[in-house]
Amino acid sequence: MSQVLIQDLNIRFGGNEVIQKLKLEVKAGEFLVLLGPSGCGKSTLLHSIAGLNPISGGRILIGGQDMSTAPPSERGLGMVFQSYALYPHMSVRDNLGFPLRMAGLPKDEKDRRIAKAAAMLQLEPLLERRPAQLSGGQRQRVAIGRALVREADLLLLDEPLSNLDAKLRTELRRELKQLHARLGNTMIYVTHDQVEAMTLATRIVVMYQGEILQIGSPAEVYERPSSLRVASFVGSPSINHLPGEMRAGQFCAGPLQLAGPSAKAGAISLAVRPEDVLIGADQPFAGVVDLVEPLGNQHLLWMSAGDRTVCAVLPGQAGLAAGDTVRFGFDSQRLHWFDEAGQRLG
Ligand SMILES: Nc1ncnc2c1ncn2[C@@H]1O[C@H](COP(=O)(O)OP(=O)(O)O)[C@@H](O)[C@H]1O
Ligand SMILES: [Mg+2]
Repeated sequence: MSQVLIQDLNIRFGGNEVIQKLKLEVKAGEFLVLLGPSGCGKSTLLHSIAGLNPISGGRILIGGQDMSTAPPSERGLGMVFQSYALYPHMSVRDNLGFPLRMAGLPKDEKDRRIAKAAAMLQLEPLLERRPAQLSGGQRQRVAIGRALVREADLLLLDEPLSNLDAKLRTELRRELKQLHARLGNTMIYVTHDQVEAMTLATRIVVMYQGEILQIGSPAEVYERPSSLRVASFVGSPSINHLPGEMRAGQFCAGPLQLAGPSAKAGAISLAVRPEDVLIGADQPFAGVVDLVEPLGNQHLLWMSAGDRTVCAVLPGQAGLAAGDTVRFGFDSQRLHWFDEAGQRLG
């Protein structure tokens, strides 16, 4: 069953088309992540689902009902904003209860929901505290709790972890995933962080300049990016991009030559993930090490071959240093080819 159905959505601010003819189906119970660079229209799309900004064209259906022009309160969803603000003079309990007081819920029901959200987010010992007496992660949990108390089937989250430091972010990320597994509700989650998208999503929607480039499971988006843009956005360190051309059945990119995907002559691109770059005496290409970046359990090796730079990620500690010569090659099963326009070949 589809929880949210977006048909030919247009959103304009003045003369600026931020979302163009966007189509999207969100299935009940999925954790859908909208991923894209800053300014691509993720928040705008999320706000339009919530009813917080008017749409210029198209339709938004929630639970099968046309909600294109319905006010936010009628859409039956909870939202966690990018810049959440807790009421500083209210306790955690009152902050959690605030949306319910607005909805005029009886006290019993209000207390039950606050207790449930507090238990789920481990806020029970903190209920009488003020926001100023909480850590950043605890405040963020209260902000999520305020959306949970609505007990809506649909939860919208706009970069909810972006204000936290790296360690807290990974902790809360795990908690969110477990929360989704327990609640079984539908989540639409906005982020520009591809690691968050990969770890949380059942499906990722990759956006760019108001359009959807690709929709797929994290594995699909990573293993079979539909375009060079998606390939480059997903994965860290970034995929190696080697523009080149087909010549007599061989792909040539600077000094690198290998069997190409087609016999046709012309410009194409090869992209290879750093973990698919192989190092060894029997490998076909000669490189010079420019830089080694140790990461503890693995290291990044940046190499030059003529005018081309290639990054490899390798296990353990590096036995190489800048200036060393190496032989490298690519895992032939894991090559990504793109045409001149950056669209995937094969
Ligand atoms: N209320 C608004 N008025 C005018 N332009 C806006 C408004 N909200 C967003 N935009 C523009 O829409 C584009 C997408 O913004 P946004 O959805 O916030 O991007 P993202 O969340 O992906 O970073 C940006 O170019 C932004 O400047
Ligand atoms: Mg945003």
